[in-house]
Amino acid sequence: MHTMNATNEPNRPTERPRDQRRGQAERDRHADVKLDAGQLIYPVFVLEGGNERRPVASMPGVDQVSPDVAVQMIQTLAQRGLRRFMLFGVIDPAKKDATGSEALNPDNPVHQTLRRGRDAGLDVEMHADLCFCEYTDHGHCGVLHDDADVTVDNDATLDLLGEQAVALAESGADYVDPSGVMDGMVGAVRQALNQHGHNAVRILSYTVKYASAYYGPFRDAGGGAPKFGDRRGYQMDYRRSDEWRTELALDIAEGADGVMVKPAASSLDIIRRVRDHTPGNMPVAAYHVSGEYSTLHAAAERGWVDLRAAAVETTTAIRRAGADWVVTYFAPQLLDWAS
Ligand code: PBG
Ligand code: ZN
Repeated sequence: MHTMNATNEPNRPTERPRDQRRGQAERDRHADVKLDAGQLIYPVFVLEGGNERRPVASMPGVDQVSPDVAVQMIQTLAQRGLRRFMLFGVIDPAKKDATGSEALNPDNPVHQTLRRGRDAGLDVEMHADLCFCEYTDHGHCGVLHDDADVTVDNDATLDLLGEQAVALAESGADYVDPSGVMDGMVGAVRQALNQHGHNAVRILSYTVKYASAYYGPFRDAGGGAPKFGDRRGYQMDYRRSDEWRTELALDIAEGADGVMVKPAASSLDIIRRVRDHTPGNMPVAAYHVSGEYSTLHAAAERGWVDLRAAAVETTTAIRRAGADWVVTYFAPQLLDWAS
């Protein structure tokens, strides 16, 4: 029996936290983190040829596709609400050299896909990866330095990144996404784009990119594994908790239009801090990378986790940490899976 209070209204028992978890309707009412199609970026691996589709062994559900197939796929996904795509080139090893000159070839599969997409009038945002590891015979993210400890020659690579960015802009990229973690890359790319009249082309910078064990399957998919050494001389050390501040300040000062944190699921704390220290109108992206994708698949194959539930939980957690955009290989499936 409810007791009566002074105004003669029945006293409601105080609502307790568990009352808000009773039933799906109540849980949905209180959920404030959403995962919508418009917040997803889908990476696409493009190779030469026509009517080609090659599964990537270490990434179930991900294929390398030729430009014609890529454009069809993008068109179909756009009709389902996916609007942002990120292109990576898969290059014939015979065409790779020390400076990655194939990156500048307007007939490489990335350029072909951009032009075909533009000709097809796709109403999507096309991002192009801006790096050299997919194009160099040694697999590093720029031209090599004489000193092996330095690995990549920073400033020589900046000039080439500028050239690559202009070429991508000319083929129709809406965004170029420098991923090689070179000092000054955003400024150099901005300057090169503007000099060629591409002021409207935007830069989504890999601002915080840690040297990570989770990039393994991607190097399989893109064929860009370093032939010697590793990337710790240029990618960031995940044991440093505050270095993101330096990189974020530099990228904003150099003119980035968006900033990215990677890998996402093992950097949720950094995503939150970057979001809280980035101007509100600037998007923060987070890349749920290949190894994070593949580990979920591997566990699901063994029956140890439910793939759908785990994928939705992880990508929602990345949003909750503060990412406006989630780059994920799960993007097509999330169109069906997420709330
Ligand atoms: C190369 C690049 C990598 C990824 C995106 N761009 C690999 C690397 O740095 O070795 C990783 C993406 C993924 O693992 O899904 N600059
Ligand atoms: Zn690279």
